[in-house]
Amino acid sequence: MGRFIEEQKKSHGAGELRASHIGNEVVLMGWVATARDLGGTLFIDLRDRSGIVQVVCNGDHLSTDALELAKSYRQEYVIAVRGEVIRRGGKPNPNLATGDIEVVAKETALLNRSAPMPFAIEDDTDAGEDIRLRYRFLDLRRAPLQRALLLRSRAAFLVREHFIDDGFVEVETPILTKSTPEGARDYLVPSRVSRGRFYALPQSPQLFKQLLMVAGFERYFQITKCFRDEDLRADRQPEFTQIDVEMSFITPDDIMATCDRMLAKVFKDVLDVDVALPIPRITYDEAMARYGVDNPDVRFGMELFDATAAAQTSAFGVFSGAAQAGGLVTGFVVKGGATLSRKALDAYTEFVKRYGAKGLAYLKRENGAFAGPVSKFTDDALVATLAAAGMGDGDLAVFVADADRSIARTAAGRLRVQVAKDTGLVQPGAFAFTWVTDFPMFEKDAETGRLAAMHHPFTSPHPADLAFLESDPLRVRTRAYDIVLNGQEIGGGSIRIHDQDIQSRIFKVLGIGPDEQRAKFGFLLDALSFGAPPHGGLAFGFDRLISIISGLDSIRDVIAFPKTTRAACLMTDAPSAVDEAQLLELGIRTVES
Ligand code: AMO
Ligand code: AMP
Repeated sequence: MGRFIEEQKKSHGAGELRASHIGNEVVLMGWVATARDLGGTLFIDLRDRSGIVQVVCNGDHLSTDALELAKSYRQEYVIAVRGEVIRRGGKPNPNLATGDIEVVAKETALLNRSAPMPFAIEDDTDAGEDIRLRYRFLDLRRAPLQRALLLRSRAAFLVREHFIDDGFVEVETPILTKSTPEGARDYLVPSRVSRGRFYALPQSPQLFKQLLMVAGFERYFQITKCFRDEDLRADRQPEFTQIDVEMSFITPDDIMATCDRMLAKVFKDVLDVDVALPIPRITYDEAMARYGVDNPDVRFGMELFDATAAAQTSAFGVFSGAAQAGGLVTGFVVKGGATLSRKALDAYTEFVKRYGAKGLAYLKRENGAFAGPVSKFTDDALVATLAAAGMGDGDLAVFVADADRSIARTAAGRLRVQVAKDTGLVQPGAFAFTWVTDFPMFEKDAETGRLAAMHHPFTSPHPADLAFLESDPLRVRTRAYDIVLNGQEIGGGSIRIHDQDIQSRIFKVLGIGPDEQRAKFGFLLDALSFGAPPHGGLAFGFDRLISIISGLDSIRDVIAFPKTTRAACLMTDAPSAVDEAQLLELGIRTVES
């Protein structure tokens, strides 16, 4: 086994070979994807990370012993082949990049055997996710996952190149640290040296990057892991990667401009897609009014209308009731939607109820007349609203009415995205970015009724709204911005507070007293008192960005070793129990829950 590897070097990737290589002698090393023994001739599909090539073994070029050896190769054996690239003997295979050629083997070597596979290494696999995660190292042999990780690596390189070229410095920040205020639960690490004390893993490098601005680095970035103990979904992992950025002496425009160029560079290089710059910006208020959500999918129109004014005098109690209670009647027009079945509309009614709506009203326009449950309430005002929203013959209008404006908005906004998916409004391969700016400073915590910072308490309020900070805090906007791609939040950030007076006013409004301030953020507040420059930044969710670029639904597919929705690693079996002795040393006793 050893001789081949000592004497010969791999000359090409299997998937790189083309007709232009015909006549070349090549040395390939990789895995047996398939082996077909047709008696005198053996065909091996040899796979490595670059792709697959067909290798032909026959008695013309191999001795009887050598041919017998080749015939013993089984799936996923690791082999080496020295041979010549020739035009494919059979018909070209248009499904393979190497389909015009094949490699006729002059020498082969077995580098290692493989146990039988728990599942086949195929692009489309029907193996369950549990088994694939357990054998993640095998799942990662599949081409879609290989492509995603190669793309991820390339994108990380381009991101670094962009920021370095733009005068940024990459600085590493601690992983064993103190709680960061990003709103999730912390992962804690017990200290052995200081028993009973804990480090927190960073939810983001937020406080450290601000300290780096105080330290005078002016432009910082880092591609780094963040840790958040939160409920997991397809777009959330307990450990994930941010492209973290902070700048001094800037306005939001400067931050958005460098991020715009970074995104354009990545999209051009890896997808050959031109991102039109500048990336459009809308305010939070506008996003909520037009799309009902703060992460609008702008790949399609179908914007929300506001029928509240028309609803004030409606004979339909559901509408007038909501409007007169200071609520909202909103919805959208589905072009050609008159053909939607009763069953589909019932399913959409159930859909909006999940967001707290009480129901879904709808109207169809067929052959010049309105039809559907609400048609008897189509007074002039409503007809005018629908005409303005572009409703024509063959269209459908759906409505959510609620005394709670945010319920109506959210339900209609979520339904808008669902209907677009169901009716094929979203073009595959389309990318649409938008910045959402001027987020509110505070929101009311649904459970406690207390004010909480919507982004984090270091976000700078809009100078024009400072006057209402104490009198009408919910009205205060911030200099915070998110960036949204295809309806997913891929990043967010803000200009920070560098003025101590404003910072203490914010803490007061949030009900965070001096003791709590010192205990939680004392070091940051100290630092801000020593000549902090005006500064701000943002962080991208790198995994989310890569999953969208790769066209994959879940960020699990772009993370080499991801965790399940129960935050477990099925391969290493983490989290797992530890030795009693280890716990004793840490001064920890566990309890059964
Ligand atoms: P934020 O909390 O908005 O901001 O996080 C920035 C981006 O990180 C991604 N993200 C996640 N990705 C995968 N799994 C998760 N659990 C997860 N949580 C967040 C999202 C999000 O937009 N320090 C601030 C940034 C700043 O103000 O500069 C921060 O962390 O794509
Ligand atoms: P009802 O008056 O409850 O029989 O409802 C008549 C229609 O209005 C049904 O199609 C309901 O789904 C719909 N509907 C009920 N409540 C609301 C609401 N808050 N917003 C929109 N439609 C509603």
